[in-house]
Amino acid sequence: MPPPNFDPNDDDSDTWSMKSGSTGFAPSVATSATTVDWEMRSASRPPSVFSMTNSLRANAYRHEYGRGLNNYSEVYRLPADEEELDRLDKQHIMFMEVMGKYPPPMAEVLADDTPGESKTCVDLGCGSGSWILDVAHDFPHVSAVAVDLVPMQVLSEVDDINLGLQHFYGDFNVVHARLISSGETIPIDQNASAIAKWMHLAGQAVKQQGGEPDAANHLLEWISTQGAFEDVVYRHWWFQTSPWNPGQDPDSRRANRHGALMRDDILSFLKSGRPLLLGTGIPEHIVNDYEDAARRELLEGKAPGFILVENVYARRKRS
Ligand SMILES: C[S@@+](CC[C@H](N)C(=O)[O-])C[C@H]1O[C@@H](n2cnc3c(N)ncnc32)[C@H](O)[C@@H]1O
Repeated sequence: MPPPNFDPNDDDSDTWSMKSGSTGFAPSVATSATTVDWEMRSASRPPSVFSMTNSLRANAYRHEYGRGLNNYSEVYRLPADEEELDRLDKQHIMFMEVMGKYPPPMAEVLADDTPGESKTCVDLGCGSGSWILDVAHDFPHVSAVAVDLVPMQVLSEVDDINLGLQHFYGDFNVVHARLISSGETIPIDQNASAIAKWMHLAGQAVKQQGGEPDAANHLLEWISTQGAFEDVVYRHWWFQTSPWNPGQDPDSRRANRHGALMRDDILSFLKSGRPLLLGTGIPEHIVNDYEDAARRELLEGKAPGFILVENVYARRKRS
């Protein structure tokens, strides 16, 4: 479901966009279970905005299974360390090339610079901040704000958006979220690919943590049936999971180029998923078996796999 307590009728929030991979990437964490108490931060916007320092960033982490996990949520168990930020930076470049930077008509919404009207854009779950930094660069008249569980290299707010967004009401014109969550949809049987089996295992682990692994698959339905939005735009892309396409025509070559980028992204994501899998008590040798099989399959590049990436854009209904 959309973040709890997010009020789409809020007069100052006129754009809502999400991108999500529905067969992989970060499993969902749609839950309010967290180590941060809502009352502690509900009205705390100004104090929670700060410039990054090394010690602030170091305190935001705990180290588990060789990776840095955020200290603020027991549920989001993917790393938010330098290695993960590097993966997200590369993924951002891949998405921009295939999907474009802004889902139409977001660029026009952001470009609108009506004199006397200020425009503010928030990126929920900003990760490395690549997208929101592009907004700041491309639309200098827009105030760009980044929100994440962990402080980023840029001016950012540390917040768990699952706890509610009331303290943001009235603050933003444009809301963006990308890949905070995703689900896995592949029916799993004996013949499933090794990647699909790994994704399934990760989905089970997310459920066990109290998360919701199918959020990505529900985005369009949630936004469309919510009643508060209009101009809903849905787009999707099937990425190859490796450069397995034997074709030599320009389309196949392009698909293979993106497949190679996606393969590298998934290879890196297999490592990111270790704290999640091990932290839910799956024995290490089983985690290793799943991971090794998926890695072999990706590097062989023969299995004709695809991964779905979806993008939903909508704007608040104008009365
Ligand atoms: C897969 S990354 C996506 C990063 C970025 N949006 C992008 O597209 O490159 C997910 C990010 O969402 C953050 N996140 C996950 N759950 C969150 C929550 N409940 N509140 C705030 N941030 C959250 C994580 O810390 C992580 O940086």
